[in-house]
Amino acid sequence: MYRVASIGGDGIGPEILDEGKKVLDAAAEKYGFEIEWTDFPIGADRYLETGELVGEDELRELSTFPAIYFGSIGDDRVRPGVLEKGILLALRFYFDQYVNLRPIKLLHGVSTPLAGKGPEDIDFVVVRENTEDFYVGIGNRFRGRQHADLEVIRNLYSVRFGLDAESDAEEIAYQIGVLSREGSRRVMEYAFDLAERREKRVTSVDKANVLSDVYGLWREVFSEVAAAHPGVSTEFNFVDAVTMWFVKNPEWFDVVVTPNMFGDIITDLGAMIQGGLGLAPGGNINPKGTSMFEPIHGSAPKYRGLGVANPIATIWAGALLLDHLGEHEAGEAVVAAIEGTIRDGVVTRDLGGTAGTVDVGDHVAHLIRS
Ligand code: NAD
Ligand code: IPM
Ligand code: MN
Repeated sequence: MYRVASIGGDGIGPEILDEGKKVLDAAAEKYGFEIEWTDFPIGADRYLETGELVGEDELRELSTFPAIYFGSIGDDRVRPGVLEKGILLALRFYFDQYVNLRPIKLLHGVSTPLAGKGPEDIDFVVVRENTEDFYVGIGNRFRGRQHADLEVIRNLYSVRFGLDAESDAEEIAYQIGVLSREGSRRVMEYAFDLAERREKRVTSVDKANVLSDVYGLWREVFSEVAAAHPGVSTEFNFVDAVTMWFVKNPEWFDVVVTPNMFGDIITDLGAMIQGGLGLAPGGNINPKGTSMFEPIHGSAPKYRGLGVANPIATIWAGALLLDHLGEHEAGEAVVAAIEGTIRDGVVTRDLGGTAGTVDVGDHVAHLIRS
């Protein structure tokens, strides 16, 4: 028996999470275990009603669960960033889920926009650092001398553009990216351990040619971790170039490890080459604490309540959750049933079908049971 917390969230989140829970229950039944779900009403509705994002008590309660199953967050009625930072990032940071695991795998039966590429070519994993970089939340906006907290920035702009520091006319904003040696090391260790169990190749993605302080540190640590794993071959790619290689030669990649923001961007690209956002799962992992599993897409507000959203990314994230709990066979069965469902043509509009969200969940659950 496993206790799992569930957070439907906003937009299509609750609909797709219901399908995920349905499928995980079917897998549990088939493989002889049970999941006790506890739902947390976290999201835009509650925020608009009460002003609460995630409370301290709630976080403490969530920390008693080995895993959280998460739908999606984001609502047009709330200023961008409030829910995203106040809920999703708050959870990732509070639980120190420093690995954001995003498999990029083209399933059989799914078409990729990459001409001439098939499932044997598109099968790698992006390990995105999940707690640092531009996500640490250090930034500000100011005019003239209004804020003296970062004199270095004020001085840079007065020299470069002749801005008068006394005047209020010119507005400046900054956001600081921070990496630490330990924060980089731990996520790289995870990536190398993963590669040891796969094809033993790790690619580091960064921008050390320009942002040479932060990503220079990243590269230095990468070289050290690589030296401790002599059986794994390694490569450095700059983030701009890697977007080209993902499209041109996806078969080159096995495990990709990258700082937070580049990881966010390149995994939406990865999602497209595996057939679309409706298919791309993710896990926010703290190997020693509460981990959280979710689709990598957002709340797709335009589809909210229509029953047309693709639940596969969420169901697949559920397979990662089972794997995390140690139920490897059940996790594999879920992925196999997703492939079976696609083969049977029970797919939503984004994949060219006519099935609804619930039809897809029902079919995946049915294939697991049969
Ligand atoms: P989005 O991922 O929600 O949607 C982009 C587009 O992708 C959608 O309009 C839709 O065409 C398609 N899509 C996404 N998921 C789909 C699914 N399951 N089935 C079918 N089509 C799907 O990104 P967005 O529109 O940029 O953001 C909407 C909101 O979600 C924003 O508030 C944003 O901040 C938030 N967001 C949340 C998360 C998260 O919860 N992890 C991730 C990304 C964005
Ligand atoms: C993702 C999302 C989030 C991120 C946002 C909503 C905070 O885009 O999970 O990829 O930037 O990590
Ligand atoms: Mn994203």
